[in-house]
Amino acid sequence: MTCALPYANGPCHIAHLRTYVPADIFVRFLRKMGQEVVFICGSDTHGTPITVKAEEDGVTSKEIINKYHGHFVEFFPKIGVNFTNYGSTDHPLNHARTVQIAEALMENDYIYAKSLKLPYCPTCDRFLPDRYQRGTCPHCGASARGDECDQGCGRYLEPGELMDPRCSVCGTKPEMRETRHLFLRLTAFEDFLREYLPQMDGTDIARNYALQWVEKGLRDWNITRNMDWGVRVPGEPGLVYYVWFDAPIGYIASTEEWAERTGGDWEYYWKGAGSFIHFIGGDIVYHHCLFWPSMLKGAGYDVPYAVAASGMVKVESKVFSKSRGYVIWVEEDYLEKGLDSDALRYYIASYTGFTRDLDFTWQAYGDKVNKELVGSLGNFLYRALLFAQRNYKEIPEGEVEPEVRAEVEKTIESMRQGLDNFEFKKVADAVLALSAYGNRYLQAKEPWNLGKTDPEAAKNTIHNCLWLTKALAVLMEPVMPGKAEAIWKQLGDARKETPLAEALEPLKAGTPLEKPSPLFEQIPDELISELSDMVAERIAKASG
Ligand code: MSP
Ligand code: ZN
Repeated sequence: MTCALPYANGPCHIAHLRTYVPADIFVRFLRKMGQEVVFICGSDTHGTPITVKAEEDGVTSKEIINKYHGHFVEFFPKIGVNFTNYGSTDHPLNHARTVQIAEALMENDYIYAKSLKLPYCPTCDRFLPDRYQRGTCPHCGASARGDECDQGCGRYLEPGELMDPRCSVCGTKPEMRETRHLFLRLTAFEDFLREYLPQMDGTDIARNYALQWVEKGLRDWNITRNMDWGVRVPGEPGLVYYVWFDAPIGYIASTEEWAERTGGDWEYYWKGAGSFIHFIGGDIVYHHCLFWPSMLKGAGYDVPYAVAASGMVKVESKVFSKSRGYVIWVEEDYLEKGLDSDALRYYIASYTGFTRDLDFTWQAYGDKVNKELVGSLGNFLYRALLFAQRNYKEIPEGEVEPEVRAEVEKTIESMRQGLDNFEFKKVADAVLALSAYGNRYLQAKEPWNLGKTDPEAAKNTIHNCLWLTKALAVLMEPVMPGKAEAIWKQLGDARKETPLAEALEPLKAGTPLEKPSPLFEQIPDELISELSDMVAERIAKASG
């Protein structure tokens, strides 16, 4: 299992989480079902996203990647995402693997060299790859950068395609200079892609977009850039591989880092009986579903079992944009305000379907947390545990009622369906539905009244409630791992990451119970307005 590698040019923001949180939920579930998973990610350290940022900050590219690589290494565990290996595309293993894959592609005649004329800035005295030029998108006419129509149609652009380019550093109109580049013969993979894509598992966004692009006609892909930061092309001075050539290879190299560290077998996953799945955002389907499978196929590797591409994240209904202020920084704006990491995981999973756009507003976030996590889930858990602890000091004896068991079985079935369809909303909603059932059950049985008339029936009710509490601890762990652990503790049994089957196991009656505490905190309206104002100010400031 891999997650798209974040560019090491800034800290984690909320749009990143649309890739990492669902992927982590998926991995935790696979493990719960007994699958062995290596969970791979790492920093994307090459290309103009890094060099432009380094120039802006007046530091070296190395300093930028070290800083943000360090950030991501420390950050991911804080949001409950624990990769088996978090590597870096600047690792020697990635440089070596990139050169190896390029050589294999050359041997199979999938790479050729060609001279072409590309924009060169006489003032800055350099070629202008990718983010070093801005101009007009040839497809939709919007303002775009060299490799992507970032403000219009979102299309991937080949070097030389941007119209009326200008140097993005000094604004000079570039001259065209001849330079030699390497191309991947993508056109040779058309038949392969037509056969492969329809049977590739994953989300519709991934399959359908990719197939549409094949229909529209493929073009060979320029895989080199006139830069010195990146993986150098042997025998071609002044050229490095394009960042989108070496970045996905970073998935393999990060697995090699893991193998080197643990004695594991990386080839099992990439050219053996194992299989691999990629989690990405909807903006990078082109790279993962056209370029990448072709590279793998052409170099003699296996191809992805699935590509799960999410919908995009917006902030306050606008296209996510760091430069225009439509951004939420997860560490600074969220965790450092004392907000709960599991609540954010839940919000991301359940706010909307995985392939839809997710519009983040603090108001919607606050409402959801207060209503669902505090009002329903937290409420049931606290009431059940508190009643048990006050009245019995331990888990009371009882028999699990068939109706209660059926409800948990239904929840498990719902979750499985969600996972099969990469539908994380269904997974998170199932947890909530189970807690809502718990609340109804408790309310209908009224153990507080039964206590006097039929103490055995009251005990039995609470036994059932605690059995549901345990089932919730098992089933919510993929979405809210920290809270699941806390529930286990409150049940007097310090467990975590339990197998799925544990949800239907009996409870140990007689286990002593400590005084419970509420698992979720109400988010006050004042904090929500404060956070909304903060975003509004940021947007106002960015627009000058
Ligand atoms: N470095 C590339 C990925 C290389 S993978 C071989 C990249 N990095 S990123 O930092 O821009 O994005 C990291 C992840 O976050 C990607 O999955 C990307 O799709 C996702 N998102 C970044 N911005 C996004 C939105 N506004 N909305 C949803 N997800 C997007 O891309
Ligand atoms: Zn465009």
